[in-house]
Amino acid sequence: MIRPIYLYGKEVLREVAQNVDIADKDAVSALVADLKDTLVVADGCGLAAPQIGVSSRVVIVDGTELVDTYPELKDFRRTLINPEVTEESPVKCVYSEGCLSVPGVYADVTRPKAITVRYYDESLQLVEERFEGFACRMVQHELDHLDGKLFVDKVAPIRKKIISKKLLLISKGLVSTSYKTK
Ligand code: NI
Repeated sequence: MIRPIYLYGKEVLREVAQNVDIADKDAVSALVADLKDTLVVADGCGLAAPQIGVSSRVVIVDGTELVDTYPELKDFRRTLINPEVTEESPVKCVYSEGCLSVPGVYADVTRPKAITVRYYDESLQLVEERFEGFACRMVQHELDHLDGKLFVDKVAPIRKKIISKKLLLISKGLVSTSYKTK
């Protein structure tokens, strides 16, 4: 089911999400299906459950649309359920980020270059995977959503000043998007 995407300013985006009950397979797969349906329509590369108003620790990433810029993302699609970061590289890197909950805003964000995450995949198997490059960036951005954090919290102060007016407009719903929002 396609769900509206909650915009910057909504409380659910600031909550620390709860782990899902892995034993409740139907509920988990229904949530994953909603995230996928919603992401396709919104034409994004990642979505976290809080962005559709569900405060649960489930995210999806899909890099396949970015293949022209990042060829290594050709088949990169993941569903991460109850993810836990087990390792972070001390080396950091910068990428420009955007977010479906913060439409029209893009900014450079510094984060660890590589991370290792333990999570349940879509078939509810526990896996541990190391992410690098832009794939890693996508995953980190989505995982932040589960802790009530948004990429705009992490931009340099000078840049934040510039985007603050845009953020105010978004929080008042004064923004147009090609997808349904709330
Ligand atoms: Ni986001």
